[in-house]
Amino acid sequence: MIFIACVVFLAVFITTRYLLFRKPSDSTCKSLNEIPCPGSIPILGNICDMFYNDGESWKKRRKLLTKNFHFAALHNYMEIFNKEGQKLGDRLQKDVNQSTDILELISHSTLKIINEILVGEELKLREIQIKDYVSAIDTFSKAIGYINSKPILSLVYKYSEMKKEEDRSLEIINTFAKDLLKNWKVKPSDNPRVLDVMLDAPSLYDDQGVMDEIITFIFAGNSTSSAGLLYALFNLANHSEYQDEVYEEIVQIVGEKEKPSYADLKSMSFLDRFLRESMRLYPPAPFIGRTIAEDVVTKTGYRIPAGTEVVFHIFDIHRSPFIYDNPDTFDPDRFLPENSKKRHPFSYLPFSAGPRNCIAQKFALLEIKSSICKILKKFKLEPVTLAEDIKFIPDVTLATKEKIKIKLISRS
Ligand code: HEM
Repeated sequence: MIFIACVVFLAVFITTRYLLFRKPSDSTCKSLNEIPCPGSIPILGNICDMFYNDGESWKKRRKLLTKNFHFAALHNYMEIFNKEGQKLGDRLQKDVNQSTDILELISHSTLKIINEILVGEELKLREIQIKDYVSAIDTFSKAIGYINSKPILSLVYKYSEMKKEEDRSLEIINTFAKDLLKNWKVKPSDNPRVLDVMLDAPSLYDDQGVMDEIITFIFAGNSTSSAGLLYALFNLANHSEYQDEVYEEIVQIVGEKEKPSYADLKSMSFLDRFLRESMRLYPPAPFIGRTIAEDVVTKTGYRIPAGTEVVFHIFDIHRSPFIYDNPDTFDPDRFLPENSKKRHPFSYLPFSAGPRNCIAQKFALLEIKSSICKILKKFKLEPVTLAEDIKFIPDVTLATKEKIKIKLISRS
C-alpha cells in the first residue's frame, strides 16, 4: 500500500515538475489546439484588466481612442512609417548575404513606431532598455500561453520559476511604460497622440488607467505587428514567384520615389492579397478568448452556459478544409473579391471581429505594407527556414520553437 502511494506520489511530483518547471519555450505543438484562452486564469494583473475590462468604461474609452486610428490620423502616420522603414532597411543592410534572424530588428522598429503614436517623441531609451523590454514581452507572453495551455497547474503556478520570470517581466514592462510617460512632453498639436487624448479625458482615465492603457497598446500592438511582418517576409522568401509580383507592383506604383504615400499603399492590391493570405496561414494572434454572457445553443444543439470561457482558434479556423480549399497552399488569389465573397465574414479573423476587434487594424496593415515596400526595394529575399521546419510553441502571439531565418540579397 505504502509502495503504491509512493509510486503515485512520485509520478504526480515528476509530471508536475516536468510540466511546470520547464521553460515555456520547451514545449511545442504542431496545431494550436492545445492553447486555450488568455485570461482563463487570473495571473496577468493590469494587462488583462484592460483586455478584459468590459462594459461602459471600455465603450467610452474605445470611442475616444478610435479617432487616433481613423483615415486622417493614418495619413499622418505615414511619415513615421517611412522614417522607421528607412532605418530598418539600413540596419538590415549589415546582414546581407547571411542567414538572418530578423525578428529582433523588426520588433525594435515596430516598438519605435508604437511609441511615437502613443507619446509622440522619438524613443529616448537606451538600446539595452529596448532589448530588455522586447525580451520581457517575449517571456511574459510565453508564460501566459504556457499556463493557459495547462490550466490544471494553475494552483501551483504561483510557486513556480515561471511565475517568478513572469513577475520579473511584468516589472520590466511596467518600468518601460513609466519611462515612456516620463519622456512625454506636452506639445500642442493638430494630431493629438494617444496619450494626449487620454490625459485630456480625466473622467475616463486616472494615472493607473493611463499606464494600463499604454501597456495594453504596446503589448497588443508590438509583437503582433512584428509577427505579421516577420511571417510576410518569410512567405515572400519562400514564394519567389509572388515576391517578384509584389516587387513589380511596388516598382510600378512607387517608382523612384523614396517614400510611398498613403494612396500608393492603398493601391497595391496584390500586396494586400499577399498579406491577407500570409495572415491567414500565420495569424499573429492565433487565438482569442471570450466569456459567454448568456446561454448559447449552437446549430448542432450544444448548449454553452453563460459564464463559460471559450476559445476561438483563429489559426485552426484559417486552416480548416471546410472553409478553404487546399488550406495549406499559399494562394493570395483566395482574397480576390470574386473568391472571397462567398465566405462567411467570420471565416477570416486575424484582427478578431465584433466590437472588441483590433482598434488598429488599418494602422497595422499600413505599417506592415510600408515596411515591406522599403525592404523589397532594397533586398531580394531568399528562403532559409521552410514551412515544414516550423514548430509552433504556446504563446499569445504566433511563435516558433526555432527562430525563423531568411537571407537578404542586396538589389543594388
Ligand atoms: C498585425 C498586427 C495586429 C494584429 C494581428 C492584431 C490583432 C488583434 C486582435 C485579434 C485583437 C482582439 C483580441 C480579442 O478579441 O480578444 C486585437 C485587439 C487590440 N489591438 Fe490589435 N493587432 C495588431 C496590431 C495592433 C496595433 C499596431 C495596435 C496598437 C497600435 C493594436 C492595438 C490593439 C488594442 C488596443 C486592442 C484591444 C481593443 C479593445 O479591446 O477594444 N493592435 N488586436
